[in-house]
Amino acid sequence: MPKHIVRLLILMVLFAAFAYGAKQYFTVGSYYSYGHYRGNAVADIASDKPKFKGSASCAPCHAEQSTEWSSGVHNSAELGKVVKCEVCHGAGGERDVKGPFEPAPTGRDHPDHLKLAIPTDTAKLCTLCHEQMAGRPAQQKQIVVATHAGTLQCTTCHDPHSPRTIAGAVLATAPPGDPAAGKAMAAVCAGCHGAPAAAGPSLDGQREAYLADAIRAYKAGLRANPIMLAMVQNLSDANIRDLAAYYAGQSCRSAGNGETAAAAASEAAITANCVVCHGADGVSRQPLWPNLAGLSRNYLAEAVKSYRDGGRKNKSMSAMASGLTDINAADLAAYYSNISCR
Ligand code: HEC
Ligand code: HEC
Ligand code: HEC
Ligand code: HEC
Ligand code: HEC
Ligand code: HEC
Repeated sequence: MPKHIVRLLILMVLFAAFAYGAKQYFTVGSYYSYGHYRGNAVADIASDKPKFKGSASCAPCHAEQSTEWSSGVHNSAELGKVVKCEVCHGAGGERDVKGPFEPAPTGRDHPDHLKLAIPTDTAKLCTLCHEQMAGRPAQQKQIVVATHAGTLQCTTCHDPHSPRTIAGAVLATAPPGDPAAGKAMAAVCAGCHGAPAAAGPSLDGQREAYLADAIRAYKAGLRANPIMLAMVQNLSDANIRDLAAYYAGQSCRSAGNGETAAAAASEAAITANCVVCHGADGVSRQPLWPNLAGLSRNYLAEAVKSYRDGGRKNKSMSAMASGLTDINAADLAAYYSNISCR
């Protein structure tokens, strides 16, 4: 073979060896398992599911929420309808990590390396499954958001972990009071709670559970009022239930103040949020939420301001009243005191 052909062959072999070496050296480790160059990489990554750990795994560390949830309606295992913790809070484990820098067999886990979010906008989250829709099967409970919740978060009224629990609805099991016994005791109350112009608000036709709860609140100091504290501090719980049963059985009388102009002006402002608990007609939707129909203008305004300023402490009402000015309170009072009892 001529000498120059041998030299050429040697050069070609050296070049091939160099090129192969360079390819080995410069290609990153993940090039074939991960990168953009492989046709099925996207499908591969997509099929790598987040790692759900199951609701049982949360129990050891979040006992309170787990107990509420287990006994609640969102854990109806016998019907095959279970809304698991991770449906609302996201997966407890991340996708497997295959990158060049973290070659771990599994991804990051809660709680050590992964924070789980608390859903902030339940008006969005809960309506995914509960907003009324034409095609949604009737077995799935549905609500019309505007009339059911207004602009409020679902968690204002529902416990997210046991959503049949409505805020404050704890006294449903109290034994009923005896109205006749209550009537006898109410003689001392009549001076302030009888006539429309009396010092205290009208109690006639008010919700029974609410009346009992309000009296307990004066007794416990949650409502700071020296007169009422003196009136009720010696009442037993049975006395309280009897009084509540008596007043709830009376018929409500409208406080009608005749100021229709003020009422009309404030109507739009209130309808958004107050009506979902107190009703547009002033009749509340739930036994522990008071009717506002029949209450006088002054009393309504003072009560709203009192929740705002802390004299009365109640989670729902303090939140509702916190943004109101004195003028708002007066408008709201004008509206509700004008409503007629039915
Ligand atoms: C080994 C104990 C442990 C387990 C198991 C566990 N968590 Fe946690 N979780 C924690 C700790 C500790 C925190 C607080 C630290 C943080 O915010 O990351 C926390 C925080 C949270 C938070 C945020 C609470 C807040 O106030 O910010 C949520 C939501 C949560 N966990 C849900 C879950 C769910 C759902 C599961 C089951 C899939 C679960 N956790 C399993 C220990 C645990
Ligand atoms: C239907 C959705 C939903 C489900 C299912 C759910 N949660 Fe929650 N969780 C929430 C919401 C909403 C909040 C925020 C509560 C609030 O704002 O008062 C929350 C709050 C929490 C918090 C923060 C502390 C607190 O109570 O505010 C923890 C911890 C938690 N959930 C754990 C769990 C665990 C564990 C499970 C399962 C046993 C679970 N959650 C199931 C919606 C849900
Ligand atoms: C993934 C879907 C889903 C999400 C999200 C969800 N729910 Fe539910 N919810 C259900 C199912 C399914 C049931 C019915 C269980 C049954 O029929 O026993 C239910 C039942 C209820 C009920 C009881 C209805 C009745 O029968 O009286 C209430 C109230 C409720 N959910 C409120 C909420 C609230 C509030 C949230 C948000 C914190 C929420 N749900 C989020 C699926 C969901
Ligand atoms: C102002 C308080 C309040 C708010 C806010 C609220 N709910 Fe309710 N919800 C109730 C009450 C009270 C009931 C019991 C039935 C009734 O009186 O309407 C109820 C019942 C339900 C039911 C069962 C309905 C049925 O037909 O049995 C579902 C589902 C529900 N709510 C979902 C939601 C969702 C989702 C949100 C957030 C968009 C929400 N709720 C916000 C007070 C509220
Ligand atoms: C000396 C006058 C006076 C007497 C007597 C009196 N109250 Fe009152 N009561 C008031 C006043 C004033 C308020 C409003 C306090 C406030 O703004 O919180 C009130 C408020 C109440 C409320 C809250 C009403 C609501 O709508 O929230 C109840 C319930 C009540 N009283 C029950 C009674 C009972 C029962 C008796 C008899 C044992 C009684 N009161 C005797 C003056 C009186
Ligand atoms: C989430 C339900 C809810 C919403 C929304 C709500 N309230 Fe209330 N309201 C309550 C509850 C519960 C009480 C009783 C609190 C207590 O025991 O002190 C109450 C009490 C009151 C009282 C005192 C009634 C009495 O007899 O003493 C007035 C007045 C009142 N609310 C006005 C309003 C106004 C005005 C709005 C709108 C800005 C509003 N509420 C929105 C639940 C609600």
